[in-house]
Amino acid sequence: MRIEKLLPIDVLTVNLLADKVFGKGYLTKSYFLNAIESRNFQGYVLRENTKVIAFCIVYKAKREDLIVKLKDDSLDNYFSEQLICLDTIVVSDAYRRKGLASLLIKKVIEDNIDATIYLNAWKQNGFVNLASVINKFGFRLYKEYLDIWKLECELNQFVCPSKKEGENCCCSSVLYYRSPK
Ligand SMILES: CC(C)(COP(=O)(O)OP(=O)(O)OC[C@H]1O[C@@H](n2cnc3c(N)ncnc32)[C@H](O)[C@@H]1OP(=O)(O)O)[C@@H](O)C(=O)NCCC(=O)NCCS
Repeated sequence: MRIEKLLPIDVLTVNLLADKVFGKGYLTKSYFLNAIESRNFQGYVLRENTKVIAFCIVYKAKREDLIVKLKDDSLDNYFSEQLICLDTIVVSDAYRRKGLASLLIKKVIEDNIDATIYLNAWKQNGFVNLASVINKFGFRLYKEYLDIWKLECELNQFVCPSKKEGENCCCSSVLYYRSPK
């Protein structure tokens, strides 16, 4: 098993993995292509032989963009220079609880040792899927945001696996950060 750069030939696979967990339409092929082409992004895949079994996308972020996304201009100074956003991480369901997400996050930290890394972690059905993994790496909980995906979700711009027919969006996002040592 090895961690490699996300390549154009992986786009179909990672997009299918993303559709399965986040719902169709949440991440698109162009999101992944942009992650490959943009100098601000870094895409990682975990391969078993040639098969992609997990991926992670990070990008260089700006404080102002985070303020706009969260609609929160009271953000602490933890979120200032050298910000890396851990934008998305998925492990194929047959490979979970074997430490693969931890491997990917360890690599992201090693590659960005001088940066503050943050993520808007998905809280689904009252539970932050990644909580135990990121706690292990010294991420701290900053604040919960109830509605960063609400509008797109309720306009059905993607098919959230947690949203029941006729009901409102029930996911929220929890902002975590990890300052450089
Ligand atoms: C959240 C997600 C990425 C975690 O991936 P993962 O590879 O299962 O994560 P890890 O294996 O590193 O850690 C998960 C748990 O397994 C445990 N674990 C790690 N290695 C283990 C091993 N060898 N044997 C048993 N358990 C192990 C970890 O301690 C952690 O423990 P806990 O949750 O019981 O407290 C994965 O479940 C996923 O893709 N979910 C859907 C998408 C998603 O929610 N992404 C995050 C959006 S913010």
